[in-house]
Amino acid sequence: MIELNFISNYSPTILKKGKVTWASPSNIALVKYWGKKENQIPENPSISFTLEACKTETELVFEPRNGTHDSFSFEVFFEGEKNEAFKPKIETFFKRIKDYVPFLKQYHFIINTSNTFPHSSGIASSASGMSALALCLMSVEKLLNPKITTTYCNKKASFLARLGSGSACRSIEGDIVVWGQHSEIEGSSDLFGVKYTEEVHSVFKNYHDTILLVDKGEKQVSSTVGHNLMHNHPFAQNRFKQAVENITTMKTILKSGDLKAFIALMESEALTLHAMMMASTPYFILMKPNTLEIINKIWEFRAETGLNIGFTLDAGANVHVLFPENEAVKINEFINKELVAYCQNGHYICDQIGFGAKQL
Ligand code: DP6
Repeated sequence: MIELNFISNYSPTILKKGKVTWASPSNIALVKYWGKKENQIPENPSISFTLEACKTETELVFEPRNGTHDSFSFEVFFEGEKNEAFKPKIETFFKRIKDYVPFLKQYHFIINTSNTFPHSSGIASSASGMSALALCLMSVEKLLNPKITTTYCNKKASFLARLGSGSACRSIEGDIVVWGQHSEIEGSSDLFGVKYTEEVHSVFKNYHDTILLVDKGEKQVSSTVGHNLMHNHPFAQNRFKQAVENITTMKTILKSGDLKAFIALMESEALTLHAMMMASTPYFILMKPNTLEIINKIWEFRAETGLNIGFTLDAGANVHVLFPENEAVKINEFINKELVAYCQNGHYICDQIGFGAKQL
């Protein structure tokens, strides 16, 4: 499938005022996307678990405008209050997708959005937010062109979401998604995320992800800036090659259910991501002292108990603690007793692997 397939082709019906609503989840990458080319094309493939509890709910109200227009017209409300801060990112998103969504300038939009997790928690709201908005736009396209299929809508929603925020393209479906062309993943593409359809061991069913909120403040370096620092990075080419190999290894692990190997690869990916940041010019560190405290505690507890607790990190200080359902009681007890103390105001989010976005 090429980008041209996403250029809409339907009669220019004008819809009456209406609204569509989607809830779309966040996701956590096991093999990370870090580094991109022009037009949000990833330098390497990535694979993620879709989450269940961490979601953005977006209602898109559309109202036809009279005449022809050169600019977009929209208002954004976040948790019921008008929000100007989100507008530039959405304006950029609209500019990037306008050729694929030709009705964008024909309507005035009211975007009412809210998260199930605290906005200032430092967890990726761009993935859930951009995917929810992309899905709303696809629902409008479906009203204009009822012939389009759900498969096409999901694919194009992922394609559009990618142009808002790369990792957002992995939030449309679940429970495991691959984004980026990889020779061993059928149908994989740099243009959109695809549901992982290879064999997956039952141990990954209901897999838990407890997100420890170490630092809820604004990151000092945004992901977009961080990605750009991979251009001319001394280790970039080896990292991209390693990520491709790690997807192959992850495929074997997901099939076998070898949790020791799973944890080793997931933790190595997290630390490699942060090592790339530390080796960038200019260098930067997003982990905080409590990030390292938690990592050390997890390693100690794992060595003592043999339980399959592991961590991964996003581009931030928070720690995602991953573990299988059948060990959840003991691991939750450990998290409550030993790790919550390192969270800002004791805050953490209990989440688990989920099955993608839902229209409300
Ligand atoms: C570290 O998707 O936030 O979470 O495309 O610039 O919006 P933009 O970046 P973003 O990058 C996320 C990177 C990551 C790893 C991952 O999710 O694969």
